[in-house]
Amino acid sequence: MPATRCDQSPVWAALQAHFQAQGAAFDVRQAFAQEPHRFEQWSLQAPEVFADLSKNRIDAQAMALLLDLARDLGLESQRDAMLRGEAINVTEGRAVLHTALRAPVGEWPFNDQVHAALERMLAFAESVRDVERSGFSDVVHIGIGGSDLGPAMVVQALHSVAHPRLKLHFVSNVDGHDLAAVLRDLDPARTLFVIASKTFTTQETLANAEAAKAWFLAQGGMDVARHFVATSSNTEAAAAFGIQTTFGFWDWVGGRYSLWSVIGLPIAIAIGPKHFKALLAGAHAMDEHFARTPLEGNLPVLLGLLDVWYRNFHGFASRSIAPYHQGLRRLPAYQQQLEMESNGKQVDRVGESLPYSTSPVVWGEAGTNGQHAYFQMLHQGTDVIPVEFIAVKTPDFGAHVEGALAERLHDQHRKLLANCLAQSQALLQGKRFEDALAEQAPTASKTLDAAILARHRTFAGNRPSTTLLLECLSPRSLGALIALYEHRVFVSGAVWGINSFDQWGVELGKALCNSLLPRLDSGDVQGLDGSTAGLMGRLRT
Ligand code: F6P
Repeated sequence: MPATRCDQSPVWAALQAHFQAQGAAFDVRQAFAQEPHRFEQWSLQAPEVFADLSKNRIDAQAMALLLDLARDLGLESQRDAMLRGEAINVTEGRAVLHTALRAPVGEWPFNDQVHAALERMLAFAESVRDVERSGFSDVVHIGIGGSDLGPAMVVQALHSVAHPRLKLHFVSNVDGHDLAAVLRDLDPARTLFVIASKTFTTQETLANAEAAKAWFLAQGGMDVARHFVATSSNTEAAAAFGIQTTFGFWDWVGGRYSLWSVIGLPIAIAIGPKHFKALLAGAHAMDEHFARTPLEGNLPVLLGLLDVWYRNFHGFASRSIAPYHQGLRRLPAYQQQLEMESNGKQVDRVGESLPYSTSPVVWGEAGTNGQHAYFQMLHQGTDVIPVEFIAVKTPDFGAHVEGALAERLHDQHRKLLANCLAQSQALLQGKRFEDALAEQAPTASKTLDAAILARHRTFAGNRPSTTLLLECLSPRSLGALIALYEHRVFVSGAVWGINSFDQWGVELGKALCNSLLPRLDSGDVQGLDGSTAGLMGRLRT
């Protein structure tokens, strides 16, 4: 717990002064012109992830001050307290130990329990993967939030190493269309349902689990005990639901940090024990980097501090994620929960209201798709939105892609990478009015005044971006990338002095939903605000 709130640290005032003097008008193009080694100075290799921060609106002095701020706020001791297992989630009185889940056998917190649970889960995954004996062809994973987004994202990303004959399906939404679409083509005799819920009280998950069980029985399914298993820290509730095989975990694993635990069962089923262990090993390598590298060369620290610089000094309210890999198309959704549920807070750890901004809006889409949708706004809109590009050097299309098709798809990969580089380049350099005026744009109006047209075609440029590079999208590199994001969110949360590990903001909506549900049947609108009462009336007629 920091002794000082970040905005009361003298370094905060120094950062404000530096921002006024240099930061606000900082032009990355001029910085490249003046600093011949800017790329080398602002890029670094962390485990599995190479990061280029050089296209950001930041200079050495700002980063030096941000590092001073981190030291002044005791970032290292806050980090060490988390890694040691202190109850840093103060509002729930819990430790925060997702790092312990990927630690190898050794002197780590809860190491025996972690490895016993891991081996039991991996053995079960192995038995499901043996499809000749298990008879399973489909696995339906039912969970939501942290019990869905991580596993769904990872299974999609690691498709190239997934079991060729097992299909994984993810159902999360209480909207019955989600489950209905998945059940349509399933054979109950060949389907395994995994019910994933840390609390085993989540309305959506329990409703879908009940519906799946009813469907299974109605279709003549036999042996619920064999076809339904659970992953939960509430093993009693899972048993009360009628599930005999539950893979349990602990309250010190936060929902959005749980894909490394038994919540990762669908990942283990999809990619198998060897690859699951590589995912853990990649994350552990990043944990070690975060735990041991001095702050100035520590990638999660640098990214987290850059986030603070942008949010609190530049006033940028949003960050866009652009993974240039189709397998990472759910990464923005995963990161939304990770960052916005963790750092979307308005009080500090002792409950005092904060006078500064916290979590930015995090959003995005896989490249190049996003380019044809919202990139227009990133280039020419009135808001500056830092973009984070993720590129993968070597593609893996799977063993079925060979010969001429392989050649074509490798060529497409070069196009993908060129697009990724071109976007960050365009954001940086923009287009000057004089250059736009000199150009003949083939699709432009021939009758419009040339100066007016050129003003429409001018880009301000100097729009910041970070690029992360992976050699390939492997279990190990993905593990490292996800752990990088987890720690980066910790860093900005630690600077802001907030509890990044609770999520009280989602509770009110859940409680109100429970009270509105019977009113939808009864029509009782007493005490409701006019809008809610009016909408309910329309939904009931
Ligand atoms: O509603 C938010 C939340 O509590 C998330 O934090 C969590 O990941 C999700 O719901 C699902 O919770 P559970 O795993 O307990 O079903």
